[in-house]
Amino acid sequence: MKPEKIILDCDPGHDDALALTMAVASEQIELLGVTTSAGNQTPDKTLNNALRMLTLLGATDIPVAGGNHRPLMRDLKIADYVHGETGLDGADLPEPTFEPVHQPAVELIADILRVQTEPITLVVTGPMTNIALFLRVHPELENKIKQVVFMGGAVGQGNVYPTTEFNMAVDPEAAKIVVNEGIPLVMAGLNVTLKAQICHDGLEKIRQINNPVAQAITGQMEFYGKWYGQDEFGLAGTPVHDPCTIAYLLKPEIFETHPAYLDVETQGQLTAGETVVDFAGLMNQKPNVKVIMDLDRQRFVDLIIDLLHHFD
Ligand code: RIB
Ligand code: CA
Repeated sequence: MKPEKIILDCDPGHDDALALTMAVASEQIELLGVTTSAGNQTPDKTLNNALRMLTLLGATDIPVAGGNHRPLMRDLKIADYVHGETGLDGADLPEPTFEPVHQPAVELIADILRVQTEPITLVVTGPMTNIALFLRVHPELENKIKQVVFMGGAVGQGNVYPTTEFNMAVDPEAAKIVVNEGIPLVMAGLNVTLKAQICHDGLEKIRQINNPVAQAITGQMEFYGKWYGQDEFGLAGTPVHDPCTIAYLLKPEIFETHPAYLDVETQGQLTAGETVVDFAGLMNQKPNVKVIMDLDRQRFVDLIIDLLHHFD
């Protein structure tokens, strides 16, 4: 099968870094470019983290561009309380051995899409600011987007506010633009990503993998897992949200999806960023999203472990 061509827009961030690692490792994915957004940390740090991870992965030929410095309308909220001072604490990473391209994320996405003979997948694992901006600056290239596979939102419980998830809460207006554009969507929300946990046994298997990438991921997961292991979440394992997007592309059969109509709340005082998911046709709209509702967690973790052996 031909590899799936993707662009990854991310805010590394520990789980973004694991998703990036999986994309680089898999023969079934051709990673055409990486763009970074402000979210888990400030834009300079998420960009540097992408460059550092790609240096560690030996993938310094992949073009990287920094993107938005803040959400479209709102002040930037970062998640340093989860991802630490660097945004990717927990492992020593090499300094980048290559530079980002000298153009913003929007223009790197445009340059990549412009030369595609077939539409490709955009994978989004942070706030959607870059993608919204791209759609407004380059509507002529929209037909080069096959689908947007994103981690964000939730059917139910949020992680920033009762009904809002971080990526959507950081930039609700951007998310509303993207989900209303008519591009096929696949949503990996908290309802499934909180189940996508690397538990103790899985982390020990990763720790046993004798290569620098797996060792870095081990340290990163140990750091990242601290916050989720605390009382307010009390999860048995570490939920790796963003890797669900890449795993879905590689093994859709380990996920369960349901069609729905999706829109994003932007006006609510308490609900800005809420993903309103209509499975029942109550909004009289045709489905625009496949909502991932469940996964086979063990096969998900096994996939991550297999991919980490790519770096042996
Ligand atoms: O809510 C989880 C999401 O927010 C993940 O993408 C994580 O990396 C952060 O960006
Ligand atoms: Ca992310």
